[in-house]
Amino acid sequence: MRLVRLVPCALVAAALWAAAATAADAASRAQGQRLARLYCASCHAIDKVSPSPLAIAPPFRTLHERYPVETLEEALAEGIMVGHPTMPQFQFDPDQIADFLLFLKSLE
Ligand code: HEC
Repeated sequence: MRLVRLVPCALVAAALWAAAATAADAASRAQGQRLARLYCASCHAIDKVSPSPLAIAPPFRTLHERYPVETLEEALAEGIMVGHPTMPQFQFDPDQIADFLLFLKSLE
């Protein structure tokens, strides 16, 4: 009897938890997209279709074809340095990095 009443409770709790997690992810992703638009979009394409404004800058949607985007985590924390003077150096804090990586993943 008690178990029968607990099951729907657990289901509701699980559904609420999933909804909250999804909403948090969506907010993070949006924040990551804002960062990309603010700091990166002048050179890199940050959507799924456009060419990069600066032709030699790889569109962000292609990065995962070369390496898992998680490997950028360290680079973002320490300041991205690419072997090219055209790209300025950036440093993100851990929250920004998590948001940014979620956004990159959403382009894959
Ligand atoms: C002023 C232009 C410019 C801006 C702004 C810029 N980039 Fe770049 N980025 C480049 C260029 C040019 C390259 C290609 C460099 C090369 O291939 O040598 C590049 C390459 C990269 C790469 C690929 C590195 C590799 O070897 O795979 C990553 C990742 C990257 N940029 C991330 C970012 C991020 C994140 C931002 C925003 C925080 C950003 N870039 C902003 C110009 C820019």
